[in-house]
This record gives sequence, C-alpha cells and structure tokens, in this order.
Amino acid sequence: MKNKIGVLVSGGGTNLQSIIDQIHNKNNHDAIISCVISNTPSAYALERAQQAGIPNHVIEHTNYPDRASFEQALIEVFDQYEVNLVCLAGFMRVLEDGFIQNYPGRILNIHPSLLPHFRGLHTHQRALDHQHKEHGCSVHFATAELDGGPLVIQAHEPILANDDAQSLAQRVLKKEHIIYPLCIQWLCDGTIKCENEVAYYQGQALTQPLRLDEIST
Ligand code: GRF
Repeated sequence: MKNKIGVLVSGGGTNLQSIIDQIHNKNNHDAIISCVISNTPSAYALERAQQAGIPNHVIEHTNYPDRASFEQALIEVFDQYEVNLVCLAGFMRVLEDGFIQNYPGRILNIHPSLLPHFRGLHTHQRALDHQHKEHGCSVHFATAELDGGPLVIQAHEPILANDDAQSLAQRVLKKEHIIYPLCIQWLCDGTIKCENEVAYYQGQALTQPLRLDEIST
C-alpha cells in the first residue's frame, strides 16, 4: 500500500523541501506527500508545497480553545487524504497523546541537536554556550514527550572555534536534509519501525541511535 505522508510545518520548510526532492518527486518510492499543514499562514513551507503541487492547508492553533480540538482538526484534514505517516518538519507545536496515538509508530520528528541534549529551542546557541565539542541532529519517533521519543539516527557536526549559532545551524541543517528523508524511506520500506516506544532497525531494537557516519547509505 502506498504510504501517504502528511507533513506538519511552521516555518521555512527546508526539511519539507528535502522530503519533496528525495521522496515525493521520485516515483520509484512507495510514498507520496498527500498533504502539508501549517499552523501559521506565513510559513514559506506552504509555498514549497504549492510549488510541488501538494495540497496544503493552514490550521491556526490560535483558532481553537485547546490543544485537543486543534489536534482533532489536524487529524480530520489528514484523514481526508488518508495520511498514514506523519512527519513533523519544523513544526513548532507540542502534540499531545491524543494525536500521537492516532498514528502509533508512524510519526517522525527531526530535531537540531544530539538528543537527549538540548531538547526544545535555540539548540545551536545552547551547544555553544555549553562549550560542547560537537553538535548535530536527530531523527526520532515522536511521542507525547517533547523531543523525547525513541531515537533512530543522528548526524554529528564538530563545533569550530569561530562558529556562531548561525554558522553551526547551517552545517547541521545540511545533515538534517540527509537523515530525515533517509528515515522516512526506511519507515516506508520497513527498515525501521517503532513498537511499545522502542525503535527497531532491520528487526533489532536500537539501544542507541545509529550514526550517519557509521552506516552505508
Ligand atoms: C530546522 O533546524 C529544524 O530542525 C527545526 O527548525 C529548523 C528549520 O526547519 N525544527 P525547516 O527549514 O522549517 O524545515
């Protein structure tokens, strides 16, 4: 069965673009992006979806009295497109268990840090402030715990002496655009799965995330 991907966005959409370029546009994959939803009308990610001919909607969280009703609105739109795999791509809203449980083991998130370090925001500056020697990005299955779900893969990036948050973010973002489409393809073809909040790679439970620099892609 074709995997119908729904992508949640809030910002520039470079991760969405990498998924469009590497998954959606290649008809040899058994996946399409059925729908993109942003919680803000100003997200350039919507323009990227439009240019790719992908149906896109704005569902503003500010129009709903609580998280549950906002998330129900997201699900109702995704159901119209038979979405069975959800990708959070720069989506800036915390999703509660009601949404998560609607797609068990079928929600991926990309986060710009080497989790569990630096959950939340401003990860690059925090890595610099903590004088870490390396930084990077992580793909994990999403759970109701913010940036806390089972890790799949990480890409590492050394922190250079003259780095600032912007220069570091630029290099990390390039690695995001490698590991995210890779994981989405893996979820589509069964290479990875998540059961009982444990991530599996080729049938083996992952006790620690894979490293991009140690796998052959
Ligand atoms: C990326 O670092 C992503 O990990 C974070 O926001 C940044 C921009 O994402 N959530 P995008 O360009 O909107 O995909």
